[in-house]
Amino acid sequence: MPDIQSDAPKTLADMATEVLNTADGRAKTALSRRYAADWRASRQEGASAIEIGTAAPPLHPARPDQPELLNPRDVPKRKPGSDAGRKALLHAVAHIELNAVDLHWDIIARFSHTPLPLGFFDDWVQAADEESKHFNLMCDCLEDLGSYYGELPAHAGMWRAAEDTAEDLMGRLAVVPMVLEARGLDVTPGMIKIFKNAKLDKAVAALELIYAEEVSHVAYGSKWFNFLCGRHNEDPKEVFHTLVRKYFKGALKPPFNEEKRADAGLPPDFYWPLSDQERVLPSLD
Ligand SMILES: [Fe+2]
Ligand SMILES: [Fe+2]
Repeated sequence: MPDIQSDAPKTLADMATEVLNTADGRAKTALSRRYAADWRASRQEGASAIEIGTAAPPLHPARPDQPELLNPRDVPKRKPGSDAGRKALLHAVAHIELNAVDLHWDIIARFSHTPLPLGFFDDWVQAADEESKHFNLMCDCLEDLGSYYGELPAHAGMWRAAEDTAEDLMGRLAVVPMVLEARGLDVTPGMIKIFKNAKLDKAVAALELIYAEEVSHVAYGSKWFNFLCGRHNEDPKEVFHTLVRKYFKGALKPPFNEEKRADAGLPPDFYWPLSDQERVLPSLD
């Protein structure tokens, strides 16, 4: 029977759902980048030629058969200074990036019924496009080292935050960009050092690009979180603390990259009260 829907122009929510339903990593990121380019082109035409629309995104995105997904405590730890350790690190970052592609398309599809400025969609399309590039860069680096994404086991728990906040846009913004992606800003400089020490210039360049671009993803999170707090006449810091305690298990771990977090619009009084340590202020003498 002919599909009467097939001639209808695709909405942004349809495109997001299609990316989520694509299993292979390289195919998912290729589609993600193509739809991001289509969206940008349509926005340059003035009035949006692509409608936002609504969709029914899957609760879990499609994923390749490999890597095997394990409970985080069962993922083997390797020495970061060794060849195997560096491969494991790149593999872990590739896995995070693939999850991030899905997380950004998911926020578009899942909350497209919420009235939001078009800039909200511009930002998450841009972030999804950048995560797709990051995934491909990590895959290229792995392949240069004779490995590939899927060769090692990976964390199973990464979609948990998306599931927990599937019906709470502010909870999603608080936990995904403002906690999880902000954590990336804390740990990436240490990773860059590991690859610099090993003189793996391509990985250093890729991680430096990721580090620079991730600041804007955290910034999109704080921007839209603050926007929604303003819409509901609520105090952003109080709401942030409540939502992170509700949806994020455990304390936030210092040391924090206070400077990059500030660049991204995250002030210290947002995250320090959620850590398990007292803040030590630098002495002024
Ligand atoms: Fe990324
Ligand atoms: Fe990101």
